[in-house]
Amino acid sequence: MISWRRDPSQPGRGYALTSEFDIVEASLRDLGELRRLERECFELDAWPLIDLVAVLTFPGIIRLKAVVNGKMAGFVASDLRRGEDLAWIVTIGVLPTFRRRGIARELMYACEARLTAKRIRLSVRRNNLPAIKLYQTEGYTQVDVWGNYYADGEDALILEKKVNIG
Ligand SMILES: CC(C)(COP(=O)(O)OP(=O)(O)OC[C@H]1O[C@@H](n2cnc3c(N)ncnc32)[C@H](O)[C@@H]1OP(=O)(O)O)[C@@H](O)C(=O)NCCC(=O)NCCS
Repeated sequence: MISWRRDPSQPGRGYALTSEFDIVEASLRDLGELRRLERECFELDAWPLIDLVAVLTFPGIIRLKAVVNGKMAGFVASDLRRGEDLAWIVTIGVLPTFRRRGIARELMYACEARLTAKRIRLSVRRNNLPAIKLYQTEGYTQVDVWGNYYADGEDALILEKKVNIG
């Protein structure tokens, strides 16, 4: 099991961490907790059970959870498009109680560190300002808009970050 703990002496993170968390690989054993997290984080876009099983089991997917006191507080997953130097972060969420502690940021760092692609993309609702702010501060910029993408008609912004270059 890969275990990761934030180094509080690392400069430039710009937030105070009030409780510690670990970032570890997730597995099918996390299905129940991931289902709860999905429901709490994504009212309109929660994935069906079959997609949650897929994200926890399919090969080629990076799946990481943030753990606080033994419980899942956040989750990120990414998949590498075969034959392309492009990876997609397909989901990221942090339970409301644990937000603004840097957990999503660290989940993204840990996920990006495991990717070998040169570009990472993600989609976000046009009005999801907390997520857009997170992605912008982490160096993602808008490269496309998918109109009417979500079930309720909201547009998706496609953001991209270039990594592993040079
Ligand atoms: C978006 C989300 C993942 C952020 O998780 P988080 O753990 O609270 O984020 P972090 O604490 O790592 O925040 C890192 C930075 O992102 C930005 N940010 C995060 N939440 C923000 C908010 N509510 N308002 C403004 N900026 C915000 C800030 O720049 C923040 O840095 P700072 O705290 O030093 O100012 C979380 O709000 C969430 O799960 N939302 C519901 C699910 C969702 O929308 N997922 C994204 C789908 S595309």
